[in-house]
Amino acid sequence: MNLNQSTKDKWDAQLYDGKHSFVSKHGNSVVELLNPKKGERILDLGCGTGDLANALFERGVDVVGVDHSARMVNQAIDKYPHIRFIVQDATKLEFQSEFDAVFSNATLHWVKPPLKALQGIYQSLKPGGRFVAEFGGKGNIETLSNEIRNQIEEAGFDFTKEQFPWYFPSIAEYTNLMEMIGFKVAFAQHFERPTRLEGENGLRNWIEMFGSQLFEGIPEERKKDIILKVEKNVKDTLYQDGNWFADYKRIRVIGLKQS
Ligand code: BEZ
Repeated sequence: MNLNQSTKDKWDAQLYDGKHSFVSKHGNSVVELLNPKKGERILDLGCGTGDLANALFERGVDVVGVDHSARMVNQAIDKYPHIRFIVQDATKLEFQSEFDAVFSNATLHWVKPPLKALQGIYQSLKPGGRFVAEFGGKGNIETLSNEIRNQIEEAGFDFTKEQFPWYFPSIAEYTNLMEMIGFKVAFAQHFERPTRLEGENGLRNWIEMFGSQLFEGIPEERKKDIILKVEKNVKDTLYQDGNWFADYKRIRVIGLKQS
């Protein structure tokens, strides 16, 4: 979910729910890491269309969902009108010591600068509160994004650093930022999780949904050709037993705001 103020709201909430529901399905295991207790007040940062916020609600949590995309938030409100959802930028959070926990799944790799987000998260927590997050870590979707860059350049277009929308830190880099803000890092993990993409068009659907920024300024027809070449060239690595897999590498952290 895109929480970076500088990018436009290009999120297609219907497509997200229809073809990319694996995001919140994987997020259920991050909810287990959060271990929410009945009555806790929890911020879901990058709530998307609200499925995990609702999972927290069903466990008795007083949950607030925020997302930078108004389209995602509108869809979340339609689906779960009993929950408070707000459009907000993760680098501009204004909550003050309100939450027992801040929870975030598959969002923080969209957020730059990360330190700003961590400041807002820390400030949102009550003393003793916890920050529990999963997002893309160093090496995330490397095979795929390297090949997209190669094919964009092969086709004669520039590929600048600014076109790469994501932040995929190493565990050392991210936990260092957490400590700079004041968190005690209680848990940190960096692991591979090849992620199955639904259907024969799974890879191109993923690129359309999440990678459109990489193709800014490239005409639609040329983009189609580039994606076809990418599919052909990564098939040996990312296609197995009739399924596409994105080469996800995740970071999971738990940080404590010391009382
Ligand atoms: C991820 O969840 O790792 C991810 C999603 C979209 C774009 C890049 C990474």
